[in-house]
Amino acid sequence: MTEPDVLAPQPDLGTPAVAGEATAAVTVDGVTVQVPAGTSVLRAAALAGVEIPRLCATDSLKAFGSCRLCLVEVDGVKGTPASCTTTCTDGMTVSTRTDTLDRLRHGVMELYLSDHPIDCPGCARGNCDMQRLAGQVGVAQVRYGLTGRSHLAETRDESNPYFAYDPSACIVCSRCVRACGEVQGTFALTVAGRGFDSRITAGGTDFLASECVSCGACVQACPTSALEEKSVVELGMPTRAVVTTCAYCGVGCSFRAEVQGHGADTRVVRMMPWKDGRANEGHSCVKGRFAYGYAAHRDRQLHPMVRESIDEPWRRVSWAEAVDRIARGFRDIQQRHGVGSIGGISSSRCTNEEVYVVQKMVRAAFGNNNIDTCARVCHSPTGYGLNQAFGTSAGTQDFESADHADVVLVIGANPTDAHPVFASRLKRRLRAGATLIVADPRRIGLVRSPHVEAAYHLPVRPGTNVAFVNALAHVVVTEGLLDRDFLDARCENVAPYLDFIARPEHSPEATEQVTGIPADQLREAARRYAAGPASAIYYGLGVTEHSQGSTMVMGMANLAMLCGMVGRKGVGVNPLRGQNNVQGSCDMGSFPHELPGYRHVSIPEVRRIYETLWGVALQAQPGLRIPNMFDSAVGGSFKGLYVQGEDIAQSDPNTQHVEAALRALDLVVVHDLFLNETARFAHVFLPGTTFLEKDGTFTNAERRLGRVRPVMPSRVGKDEWEVVCEIATAMGYPMSYGHPREIMAEIAATTPTFAGVSFERLDAEGSMQWPVKDAESTGTPIMHVGEFVRGRGKLTETVYVPTTERTTRRFPLILTTGRILSQYNVGAQTRRTPNSIWHPADLLEIHPSDAQLRGIATGDLVELSSRVGSTTLRAELSERMPPGVVYTTFHHPVTGANVVTTENSDWATNCPEYKVTAVQVTVATAAEASRGVEANAAAVVAP
Ligand code: SF4
Ligand code: SF4
Ligand code: SF4
Ligand code: FES
Repeated sequence: MTEPDVLAPQPDLGTPAVAGEATAAVTVDGVTVQVPAGTSVLRAAALAGVEIPRLCATDSLKAFGSCRLCLVEVDGVKGTPASCTTTCTDGMTVSTRTDTLDRLRHGVMELYLSDHPIDCPGCARGNCDMQRLAGQVGVAQVRYGLTGRSHLAETRDESNPYFAYDPSACIVCSRCVRACGEVQGTFALTVAGRGFDSRITAGGTDFLASECVSCGACVQACPTSALEEKSVVELGMPTRAVVTTCAYCGVGCSFRAEVQGHGADTRVVRMMPWKDGRANEGHSCVKGRFAYGYAAHRDRQLHPMVRESIDEPWRRVSWAEAVDRIARGFRDIQQRHGVGSIGGISSSRCTNEEVYVVQKMVRAAFGNNNIDTCARVCHSPTGYGLNQAFGTSAGTQDFESADHADVVLVIGANPTDAHPVFASRLKRRLRAGATLIVADPRRIGLVRSPHVEAAYHLPVRPGTNVAFVNALAHVVVTEGLLDRDFLDARCENVAPYLDFIARPEHSPEATEQVTGIPADQLREAARRYAAGPASAIYYGLGVTEHSQGSTMVMGMANLAMLCGMVGRKGVGVNPLRGQNNVQGSCDMGSFPHELPGYRHVSIPEVRRIYETLWGVALQAQPGLRIPNMFDSAVGGSFKGLYVQGEDIAQSDPNTQHVEAALRALDLVVVHDLFLNETARFAHVFLPGTTFLEKDGTFTNAERRLGRVRPVMPSRVGKDEWEVVCEIATAMGYPMSYGHPREIMAEIAATTPTFAGVSFERLDAEGSMQWPVKDAESTGTPIMHVGEFVRGRGKLTETVYVPTTERTTRRFPLILTTGRILSQYNVGAQTRRTPNSIWHPADLLEIHPSDAQLRGIATGDLVELSSRVGSTTLRAELSERMPPGVVYTTFHHPVTGANVVTTENSDWATNCPEYKVTAVQVTVATAAEASRGVEANAAAVVAP
């Protein structure tokens, strides 16, 4: 897969591929092709190199047969069947161009154009199949005139911020309706009316007010300009394209960035999901497709800045001065307070190459292991737990595996909001008949959506996951549902674990009071999971962000091994990663105890690899984790911090403690796009680059390395890896690379998991899933086939230890946090796009009975308080919440949801316990309310 240098349409074979062994030989216009039995004549023709005109067919959707343009003649068959709905039979002979067919097509096209905007043939946007086909079929003029009844006067729907619907250009081919259903799984659109009165409607309302989630699949599918990106209307068509990877979530969708202009004058016209992208196969969500405007937002900082103290205004300086200030500052701190008094935090938003150089700077130039990453606060328990159980800190499957699952168990994840493109894939599988079990305190969107209904929704009480998963395993073991052969052949610690889990205290009946899950339902769900034949677990931060996050990850691994659900298609234990490169940032050695490839710093042979290459001695002791850095800062022994692409003052728990730590530091360096919350405490600000300017790789949740290609040059004049190298060099440790491909070459040379990875291979072969052990390997879609990476899979006795965070009379509710589709993490990017139209502020979801008790109505400003702090936000009454549990997002700094979250954390990794905070909710007092209103007003960012 090489980068396309032209804007050629991505190949479309008309109807979806058909799987199967049997084949049929078909001759189309004299060319014979062998196709899988059941393939459409339209697709067979395309495979034979013959293009049949078509409007209602596209290969991402089932054939529909409505436009009557794709007519063909088949030897021995009467009439002119539609090639999209006619399947091939062996020996079939097809003609696509005859006088009869040409005449018929011409007539059909003329009819379409008679009720179509008059400027269509000369429309300068040239954005549609319709215009191209009119030329191909030879219709230059319409005989019927344009005076009859038509749809030309109908009004446009401009309600969506990113695309418009123009009924006058609509030919009612229903591609949009089918895309919304079949591809996206939202079913927001229908065809209303009949015959001439047929029209597309978004549930009888406009797009913005409808169920539409703005994924853009309908726009992409539309063969006319009826559904069209506003950016194309405004800017005109793009002139060049670059294939790259989305910088939002861990699905890692591939896009063709379609742009105008070159160099610094480059303007993105639209982002088109890339069909060859193996993570997304041509689909996207609203963030990846539309929310890229933050890259050009006026808040973007483009110059380095310094200040002596955080109370002073910023002063713009040259790169050289900023780098010199940092190097002198860090060296000075180390002289006064010791080598371990400074550290760095790398970012899961940055490329693998950028992360690698940051950890190298810390280990080689800072001379310590005080490097940590934002994965600390999300998926560090995944790394620990899966490594303990299976021997690798990563999910077991590729996304495609979900297409083969018979049972899908979703625990503590909300895929439709946080991993939307994977959710669409999952919904397709569920519509095809797989059983869904959802374990989540909140009734997430997946529990019930069009044509999808969970067989079981188990609203596990926050903080009791381990008791819950133990009860599932207890049922499997005590009811004899386990896979004995798998356990005997592939696992260790089997007997002690079976004894442990079979104890009566783990039974669903014994744990019912703790988890809140009725025993009979839990038993049924466990039996269904064990029955498979292929059962897959997908989980998210609702698993990891607990004091027992790592235990829960091991508990899920236990369950999968008990039932033999590892090492083949359709099964596995799969973390849905939050940020685009959270997998990669962990892989690249961002944890204080691990060098790249999850190899402990205490292992002399591993250290030797780097010591030889880097020419420095490395410390054998793990460095400080982020919470340790904060504690040491408050304690006075930690004095300097470099933070790349993470807003720790907003995203980390117990904001008061974080702020106290940041205030205590002598030198804080923030390397980011915007002056974020953390920058309030910074002494040096280094402007960063967006994904549109980066050159490197991201690794998604399925361990897939995808290329990130620069669409435009760095707007700040330097790449982030280059700046990091300059800091290291100025500190006395020379670091330099000519290009990010050299950094990847170093990663490959030093880390066996990536030994076969190179930019050249990624450019030539497309994305790859690690491990890629050598130049012959094409990667590993499914792990632990035949044998676990650690040899035998390890069953661990997962003792349930309740969190110390308990509800009390003062704080009687439990707060849990999460995300919403249109915003992303702390909102730094999405709040600077029109996405804010959907979620202008964080809301507190509260069950009506809890609200009624407190006299709270939807829209009221409420005070949310915990034992560590309080904040003000608006309430939304919601039956999605169980009584006793409230929920909010953390996308807006003004809400400061983390003001109330506590310092509790996972016992193994220190991942914060974001998902369990005892709180009280009250109607805000007049003073609190006015503070909240003012803060909300002040915090609004114009897109
Ligand atoms: S944008 Fe997506 S969700 Fe909205 S109508 Fe189109 S396909 Fe459906
Ligand atoms: S809006 Fe486009 S895709 Fe939808 S029916 Fe009309 S022409 Fe077809
Ligand atoms: S699903 Fe994730 S990776 Fe894909 S477009 Fe949306 S935000 Fe980007
Ligand atoms: S493409 Fe076959 S009928 Fe429309």
